[in-house]
Amino acid sequence: MNRLFLFLCLFLLLLGCARNTEPSTAATEVASDDWWKEAIVYQIYPRSFQDTNGDGIGDLNGIIERLDYIRDLGVTAVWLNPIYSSPNDDNGYEISDYRNIMADFGTMADFDRMLAGLHERDIKLIMDVVVNHSSDEHEWFVQSRSSRDNPYRDYYHWWPAERGKPPYRYSLFDAEGNAWKYDSITNAYYLHYFSQKQPDLNWSNPALRQEVYDIMTFWADKGVDGFRLDAFQFSAKDTTYPVFEGLTETNFVDYYAMQPGLHDYLREMNERVFSKYDVMSVAEGAGRNFQDAHDLVDADRRELDMAYAFDGVDIPKYGGYELRTMKEVFSRWDREFAEDGWLSIFLSNHDQARMVSRWGDDRPEYRAPSSKLLNTFLLSMRGTPYCYYGDEIGMTNIDFDEIDDYRDIAARNGYRKAQAQGKDIARFLEELNFSSRDNGRTPMQWTDGPQAGFTTGTPWLPVNENHAQINVAAQEKDPRSILQHFRALTKLRRENPVLVYGSYDLLLSDHEQVYAYTRTGDNDRMLIVLNFSSESVTVDLPEAEDAAVVINNYPTFDRQGGELRLAPWQAVILRRG
Ligand code: GLC
Ligand code: CA
Repeated sequence: MNRLFLFLCLFLLLLGCARNTEPSTAATEVASDDWWKEAIVYQIYPRSFQDTNGDGIGDLNGIIERLDYIRDLGVTAVWLNPIYSSPNDDNGYEISDYRNIMADFGTMADFDRMLAGLHERDIKLIMDVVVNHSSDEHEWFVQSRSSRDNPYRDYYHWWPAERGKPPYRYSLFDAEGNAWKYDSITNAYYLHYFSQKQPDLNWSNPALRQEVYDIMTFWADKGVDGFRLDAFQFSAKDTTYPVFEGLTETNFVDYYAMQPGLHDYLREMNERVFSKYDVMSVAEGAGRNFQDAHDLVDADRRELDMAYAFDGVDIPKYGGYELRTMKEVFSRWDREFAEDGWLSIFLSNHDQARMVSRWGDDRPEYRAPSSKLLNTFLLSMRGTPYCYYGDEIGMTNIDFDEIDDYRDIAARNGYRKAQAQGKDIARFLEELNFSSRDNGRTPMQWTDGPQAGFTTGTPWLPVNENHAQINVAAQEKDPRSILQHFRALTKLRRENPVLVYGSYDLLLSDHEQVYAYTRTGDNDRMLIVLNFSSESVTVDLPEAEDAAVVINNYPTFDRQGGELRLAPWQAVILRRG
């Protein structure tokens, strides 16, 4: 009897231990493996976030000043556009020293303080890695162009002029659209898919690859938590430079993306860098098709964690877009990644015009509800959301009408090209006014005061006049502001794994104004209803009957059974038990 009792106690004790240890180990494992799936990423364009020394350029000390603001947004990771030394032909997307901080932005000591400040607040840091190309002012290129037998010659792509003109390559930023630039020093052409100051690196050279891994290791050792690989899908090139029959300005991805060697390079990068640290990796560009995208990100490939495709952000055009196309594209991508791989969800970034101006309605009466609706979409879809600075307060496009107002090399050289091609310039400027990347790069609107509190000097790009109405200070005070709604959404996502992992099912697929879907987990189900229009709309959605409202961008929700009367840009998340 006694022995039996002891035995039973021992058994229960062991069971208890097993119970106690098991879930907690499992939980830590899940958290460390999958934090990047659960992350809410906030993208900061450092040049435009907060200036602290009056030179009109945002800086790292500015980010440090705003760390509590970033924490209070409820985001869990920050992605910074490039902050390394750069001559700024393309705002830092051409690096002249990968181990240094751009003087405009501060010093390495500032960086270390910023990183420590983020980590103290449990926020991860993702760095932009620009290694499809470097700056032409990088020491490697200075060496490379100096003579044909320089040890750095093969760090770049050269075509000796005695072979005649090189086969046509399209350049995205060149005023003539030509990606080969003649260099008289060695009587040869070098390749630049982007601007002339962005020569492409030669990834087929193992010495160059090792340099890049060493650079990434340098930053990983500093404690950064992830890398965003800029334009990486273009890195691999056939160095025999064959003729690309049929290459045009619009189909270059088919010729440039995912060339042989790319997956080998990524596997090598993974082995030498990613696998040694708890870092996440995301590539800009997901290839030409779903197979390419899976080959980049499926776990068994040991390449990347995520990539992001452009199919989504390419939808809104000057003149509008069809909601049905949006639903079809986002649903197709979700379906394709339902089992393997992982997605990124974004509606804007530094290469796009402002989210609310492209996807919503930025007229004063609809700006707030449509911004809130778009944030609801971002934060309730499957995949890792990337939220762009300023979208949490509904910043809009700026209204430039002269080419000299623009700073972006893509706009300025695009204008010269349009002129050379005899295009309708008025029309070109009208479209640029809507779609220019500078729209998405204007300074953060902190207050209604001078220069929106961004700088005491002259900002590098004008502050939008509407900072009098759209600014953080005003929205801090208003419990129904876009900002407060954003905070509520991040909290909801952090507290409800169903919004991260739950399966996604589209409802009302053909509806022209309402985007509705469910997110379903093992024990939980959310219903998201979004009226993507500036009109009131009535829909029948039996799923919504009796479901509890979790978040709503209007004070009321008009529902008779399963019949919903949605206000313009109304966005509601409901829970079905
Ligand atoms: C990526 C960046 C973009 C940059 C280009 C060249 O597309 O997002 O801003 O201009 O690469 O580096
Ligand atoms: Ca500054």
